[in-house]
Amino acid sequence: MNHYFKKIRVISPEQKLDKVVNLWVKDGVIKHCNEKDAEIDTNTTVIPSEKLVAAPGFFDMHVHLREPGQEDKEDIQSGCEAAANGGFTGLCCMPNTEPAIDHPTVVEFIKQKAKDNIVDVSISAGITVKREGKYLSPMLELNDYGVSFFTDDGNAVQNSNIMKRAFEYAGSKDLLLAQHCEDLLLTEGFSMNEGMISTKLGLKGYPSVAEEIILYRDITLAEYCGNRRYHAQHISTAGAVNIIRKAKEQGIRVTCEVAPHHFSLSDTLIESYDTNFKMNPPLRTEKDIEALMEGLSDGTIDCIATDHAPHTLYEKEVEFEKAPNGIIGLETALAVSMTYLVHTGVITINQLIEKLSVNPRKILNLPEIIIKEGEKTNLTIFAPNEDWIIDSDLFKSKSRNTPYNGMKLKGKPKFVINNNQIYNSNL
Ligand code: DOR
Repeated sequence: MNHYFKKIRVISPEQKLDKVVNLWVKDGVIKHCNEKDAEIDTNTTVIPSEKLVAAPGFFDMHVHLREPGQEDKEDIQSGCEAAANGGFTGLCCMPNTEPAIDHPTVVEFIKQKAKDNIVDVSISAGITVKREGKYLSPMLELNDYGVSFFTDDGNAVQNSNIMKRAFEYAGSKDLLLAQHCEDLLLTEGFSMNEGMISTKLGLKGYPSVAEEIILYRDITLAEYCGNRRYHAQHISTAGAVNIIRKAKEQGIRVTCEVAPHHFSLSDTLIESYDTNFKMNPPLRTEKDIEALMEGLSDGTIDCIATDHAPHTLYEKEVEFEKAPNGIIGLETALAVSMTYLVHTGVITINQLIEKLSVNPRKILNLPEIIIKEGEKTNLTIFAPNEDWIIDSDLFKSKSRNTPYNGMKLKGKPKFVINNNQIYNSNL
């Protein structure tokens, strides 16, 4: 299955490449990539591509695949298909499975299930056993099985001494520690952001400082332990952006990600009591959104990651306070980011590609994708200016917990190509 994309705009920020070419993908390899016409063979499909962009394949470094243990919400196959449908050629799965990813056997199980997929699956493992925050996981042994990214995501490591020891162990192999930053004593029983709206609705709030206290503690520890690598997951507050900006200025090796819902939706939406606006961290205020956008624009925020968190309908269709946290994001991330960031002029399309592809791969030490004749093809192809209405019935995810259903957005995934396979998005 070979494809010839006629007059496609290829953007690869690392290569300083941004030009319109004819792109021939043959047997999984880039056979031709320049302004001239190629002499293609008869078993090549020609795709008129004047309205399309080809970029190094997008990578989502924050995905809950739910397998093993919660396959009614998602499994490795459906999660990967949702990723491909949304324009991703790679993802990193989170360890809050059942059992948790804290042992080589679980890592091997996931590798086995994910092999030969069009989407490359990287695996993160718990910092602590069962993500319970009590005992360190066998990080170095897990590293022998290919894991180099550790987080208790869904939980935050509360005990500072355990976190300090984790940095000490991680340092011996320069492993990456990441945190879902939440001081649990400050967020107990929360349903939403603490502020005007939570007061009005009478819902228990999650103060922004609960995120910032853990973030600041971790950065302080990372520096104290010898400037260890640290990644802050799904940051959501103006204060978090400031803390990271200052740490970066001081040369501390910190990186961070933001989820599309945190820069596109605010806590006022919770007045509807729609549980698809409930997640952890919660939707914040317009001021926080402004700060996140500034952080995206000035490079403080390195990546956009979805925190794709599938839940079944019956779990979400309950009173707001009882609903589980989380929304799906793989099939809407590109459109939400294009609509709220690129079409509004907050960042350029080149910056967006850095945050969806280049930077997550760099942070996870994955090989750089080169778009050049003779290279293996790993591409995301999308229509940056196409308007469409989100229809969650078309999603490949097993779950439907999205706040964007029915919304008109601009920018649509079209194809992904990776591992000698092509996926045509049905969205
Ligand atoms: O909203 C969330 N849902 N935040 C998390 O950190 C975990 C996730 C989940 O696993 O459902």
